[in-house]
Amino acid sequence: MDSHIVLLPGDGIGPEVVQAGQEVLETVAKIFGHRFTFETRLIGGAALDASGQPLPPDTLAACRNGGAILLGAVGGPRWDNPSARVRPEQGLLAIRRELGLFANLRPVKVFDELRSCSPLRPELLQGVDLLIVRELTGGAYFGKPQGTERSEQGERAVDTMAYTDHEVRRIVRLACEIAQRRRGKLCSIDKANVLESSRLWRRIAIQTAADFPGVALEHALVDSAAMRLVSQPASFDVIVTENLFGDILSDEAAVLSGALGLLPSASLGAKGPGLFEPVHGSAPDIAGRGIANPVGTILSVAMLLEYGLDLVSEARAVESAVKRVFQSGLRTADLKAANAVTTKAMTRAVTAALDELH
Ligand code: IPM
Ligand code: MG
Repeated sequence: MDSHIVLLPGDGIGPEVVQAGQEVLETVAKIFGHRFTFETRLIGGAALDASGQPLPPDTLAACRNGGAILLGAVGGPRWDNPSARVRPEQGLLAIRRELGLFANLRPVKVFDELRSCSPLRPELLQGVDLLIVRELTGGAYFGKPQGTERSEQGERAVDTMAYTDHEVRRIVRLACEIAQRRRGKLCSIDKANVLESSRLWRRIAIQTAADFPGVALEHALVDSAAMRLVSQPASFDVIVTENLFGDILSDEAAVLSGALGLLPSASLGAKGPGLFEPVHGSAPDIAGRGIANPVGTILSVAMLLEYGLDLVSEARAVESAVKRVFQSGLRTADLKAANAVTTKAMTRAVTAALDELH
């Protein structure tokens, strides 16, 4: 197939890992006989420096016309001034909003070979295979009013956590559809004992899941769910939750896999291109040193192939190649390795494994 892929490297280690992702896509195209074309655009701090805007109009236009988007990371200490009017992260929030990417899929699996990288006891990690479905365009990230006001008493800042029934229904429906294709278990996480928006969330979740008799729905409060995520992680299959809870829980869940650098994500809308990005951030401390773990991005490429382009065998091939590389003992520096390899060496090993598998 022909597909046009928009690359948004962003900041910090973003360019290094997106380069790795592009190489894997090129290898997939060669092996499976596809034609992928690429276009690179600015986002985040890099875009701020060049144009004063974290999501310039030409970047957004290119994304709208693309078949899929691969993003690295945005942000860094250079732009971290809390009183700055515009921040790199606004580029990411704007692209999610503009493209209507309401569903963020963050799978967490544990590679057997990497169990010792996690601070949790290996026996707790047995059988961990969960998927966080995070609502991405609602809640406190986007609710109005939002802002800071000054008065004689001092300053007051406000964020608003708001949800409509429509927003809850569409994300829970998607989570049910995914749960049906997995182990049929769905855990909806909220704070219904305190928050009004969570009580609506829970009511709509119950209504929506009623259309899916094969899906067993349970509810958990976010505080106890956070605890269960590290005490009984294998008890989860699919998790569905609102934007801010999903942000926090997905970083927590990353601990299970051993390193944040391993985890991929997909952000999907009702139509139009999806956006695929590693869960990790821009890691300014190691940027430019060529030692970043490219696996989060490479597995995001697998999600791009599966969810963005409907190329399921190609996605499985990329995942198998990554597994094979870990089996061979290769590790990047974040995986507690004595002989850590570079980003480029890791990527080459994955493309070589792809070549060998086919
Ligand atoms: C994430 C990140 C973003 C978020 C930031 C960079 C705005 O933490 O994708 O999880 O909070 O959504
Ligand atoms: Mg986050």
